Amino acid sequence: MKGVILAGGLGSRLLPLTKITNKHLLPVYDRPMIYYPIECLVAAGVEEILLVTGGNSAGDFLRLLENGTDLGLRRIHYAYQRGEGGIAAALRLAEDFANGDKICVVLGDNIVEKSIRKAAESFEAQESGAKILLKEVHDPERFGVAEIEGDRVVGIEEKPKSPKSNLAVTGIYMYDAEVFDIIKTLKPSGRGELEITDVNNAYIRRGSLTYDYVDGWWTDAGTFDSLLRAAKLCAEGGANNA
Ligand code: G1P
Repeated sequence: MKGVILAGGLGSRLLPLTKITNKHLLPVYDRPMIYYPIECLVAAGVEEILLVTGGNSAGDFLRLLENGTDLGLRRIHYAYQRGEGGIAAALRLAEDFANGDKICVVLGDNIVEKSIRKAAESFEAQESGAKILLKEVHDPERFGVAEIEGDRVVGIEEKPKSPKSNLAVTGIYMYDAEVFDIIKTLKPSGRGELEITDVNNAYIRRGSLTYDYVDGWWTDAGTFDSLLRAAKLCAEGGANNA
């Protein structure tokens, strides 16, 4: 499976930290934020990734990551996202890179304690469709929230005021090549973005979305509180452990 890391966006929830750099280059304990999703994919067995970024600091990713081999990658590719179109719009830039293969997409500010290798292997064995990873949280209204019936996800709501569960949809998604056809059918949401939640709901309607749970802790790092929490968790026990 190939990997895609989405590391664009304005990082406006972290201003002024993000005024002169990209959110994903900010430190989380002892390394730049972007190292964690890369290490997550490497620990899951991914050898080739596409990093999608944008904005003025895009060149700094190349300076930092070079050809990716220091982090255990066979190869790293870069794509540049013009403007701000949302997560699904950024993912659209990965179509040629994916070239029909399955992909594991990780949002550049998502950090996990444990390897996601088992979930990746189970998706490799899944004939087609998509897989999302869920985590129980105490503040589901901050995330995409999954509604489960039996062993199926029946719907996902993006940042609902009254969440139907406490299961956050983490920013780790696995897709077959159909994802690019789905993205082409999307309309911008109320906040003017192509939403990844709409992609996942399209797979639910097709009856081909599966889910797993994240082992250990999971956090994003896109707000002051979650950035601090991420640094503490990484300092205490490290991330992407076997
Ligand atoms: C995005 C997704 C949301 C998901 C979250 C995970 O939200 O839209 O569904 O739960 O990432 O980090 P964002 O934090 O970009 O607003």
